[in-house]
Amino acid sequence: MEQHVYPPAAQARIQGMEAYQALCAEAEADHASYWARLAREFLSWQTPFTKSLNDSEAPFFKWFEDGKLNASYNCLDRHVQAGKGERTAIIFETDGGESRKVSYAELLALVCQMANGLKSRGIKKGDRVVIYMPMSVEGVAAMQACARIGATHSVVFGGFSAQSLRDRINDAGAVALITADEQMRGGKALALKGIVDEALDGGVCPTLKDVIVYRRTGGAVGWVEGRDLWLHELLQGASSICEPEWVEAEHPLFLLYTSGSTGKPKGVQHSTGGYLLHAALTTSWTFDLQDSDIFWCTADIGWVTGHSYITYGPLALGGTEIVFEGVPTYPDAARFWQMIAKHKVTIFYTAPTAIRSLIKAAETNDAVHPKHHDLSSLRLLGSVGEPINPAAWEWYFQNVGGGRCPIVDTFWQTETGGHMITPLPGVTPMVPGSCTLPFPGITAAIVDEMGNDVPNGTGGILVVKKPWPAMIRTIWGDPERFKKSYYPEELKGYYLAGDGAIRSADRGYFTITGRIDDVLNVSGHRMGTMEIESALVAHTELVAEAAVVGRPDDLTGEAICAFVVLKRARPTGEEAKAIAKELRDWVAKEIGPIAKPKEIRFGDNLPKTRSGKIMRRLLRSLAKNEPVTQDISTLENPAILEQLAQAN
Ligand code: WTA
Repeated sequence: MEQHVYPPAAQARIQGMEAYQALCAEAEADHASYWARLAREFLSWQTPFTKSLNDSEAPFFKWFEDGKLNASYNCLDRHVQAGKGERTAIIFETDGGESRKVSYAELLALVCQMANGLKSRGIKKGDRVVIYMPMSVEGVAAMQACARIGATHSVVFGGFSAQSLRDRINDAGAVALITADEQMRGGKALALKGIVDEALDGGVCPTLKDVIVYRRTGGAVGWVEGRDLWLHELLQGASSICEPEWVEAEHPLFLLYTSGSTGKPKGVQHSTGGYLLHAALTTSWTFDLQDSDIFWCTADIGWVTGHSYITYGPLALGGTEIVFEGVPTYPDAARFWQMIAKHKVTIFYTAPTAIRSLIKAAETNDAVHPKHHDLSSLRLLGSVGEPINPAAWEWYFQNVGGGRCPIVDTFWQTETGGHMITPLPGVTPMVPGSCTLPFPGITAAIVDEMGNDVPNGTGGILVVKKPWPAMIRTIWGDPERFKKSYYPEELKGYYLAGDGAIRSADRGYFTITGRIDDVLNVSGHRMGTMEIESALVAHTELVAEAAVVGRPDDLTGEAICAFVVLKRARPTGEEAKAIAKELRDWVAKEIGPIAKPKEIRFGDNLPKTRSGKIMRRLLRSLAKNEPVTQDISTLENPAILEQLAQAN
């Protein structure tokens, strides 16, 4: 098929392919000095660093280690000191459609008050604080307040269940939790505090002392005296001046739990200096953020995208951004378009899943089509979280971008801290479906299983050859798992991303072909198959055995399909439907609604080899309703395939 190539923007911060190549050459010539130059240019250091990269304990790399800085100082104080205090930092829009503006000076004051409030509770540098909050100015400020006092935050997405929240609090050993009474989404109030109470019920989180509650709706909440306190009471009388805690560049800014190949989510640990550098740098080069822009990243602060492109990157550059509480489909599926027009958004960053669902909505109901809204303020679009299919790319380009806005298809991960492979708006001709070329200084490559480069046009394993400042430092509490997951011995010391990829023969452009491990990407959310299997078998009354696979889905990218063997006879008909529903609800309770299997099929058994290994590749074919063409000579119980091929 002939590929359409779209030209880059006429003007952007990094201008032209030569400028891009010059940056790549600079990094190639002296990797450590290149990053050191940028770290001096983009960040304000209280104690300048003298060392750039320390690789003496590889793969535990250190960057700028003798320098000291503070992330919240870089995101707030320095702009206020430069006379930009009146500039709008955040335009907050509620679920119901009210909006308000918060200036840099106001945000700084709020962050300082919160920081002082946390300090008054004895929370200090190195402590972990879990944040379980709705999208709000207070949520962003809570993260910044932790950064200000050197406490390490760990944000848990508001859609995770009590059980998931409890596991994360305990794994992090958190001393405090910041939450809200309720969260508003799509016109409905969800009881966040209620989930917190359930998570903490029975004293199961021994390290946790304080639960600080932001009053969002004023809805009724349960209250535990001595443990719970209102945020507004904590802020009362708290000074709006708080000297930042200057931390070493390597000091952990945050932990963020994400799914891997095993049952237990891992706490990805990020640094302060290296991480903040990449968040700021990519916001500048990939998004070309200027003072005149209104930037909108639609992610939730519970995901890494919200960390890098809401809480840290845009604020580090002194930009103006939207923080949106609600959902794209409320009051109707034109909400994004209506908000772009209302706030004159210039840069818009969202996920392919959202785009695909809005395409579907617009195609079934013309009233919510973007053409009814004035989107002429837009100049740049972005995509993140999963591969964007060329058809969705084209629709986004034409119908949202009016055929004039470049799309940056940004490939990256929780572990990478910021963009790794992406077009730059003034540089890269775009091919729909391809994330194009590495960010300057990122040594992305495609190799075979022994770490040898493969030629363009041949698929392989995506790696990053050299360390980079924003990379994951370790898995919290499990350095061995960090080494095993990301630096397997056979890969020559390269970082293993966990994705397959291929470079085009003509341009050397990267296309991500999907995960090569047991991680699924459902609506841009990362889910481990083992995690869902563990949740299913935790229903000990019903479930004997479970295997989970992904299958392609037009809307959500991938969908979760579970094969379950019950402790009772295989159900059919209405009984099967009822049990499937019970198990789906169970998974929602164990992990969160995002982990609910789309389909559950019941069998007397699962396809296994004679040595007892579940043959997942067969299950993948069955889930897709494809005939099994694989070799089944090692399969012990071939008859089971026919049974599992049928939906309930
Ligand atoms: C996938 C989200 C294709 C990929 C920032 C990766 C993508 C995982 C893209 C990380 C993209 C992310 N094109 N695939 N532009 N962006 N992915 O940790 O499989 O939630 O490994 O970070 O999402 O998901 P995570």
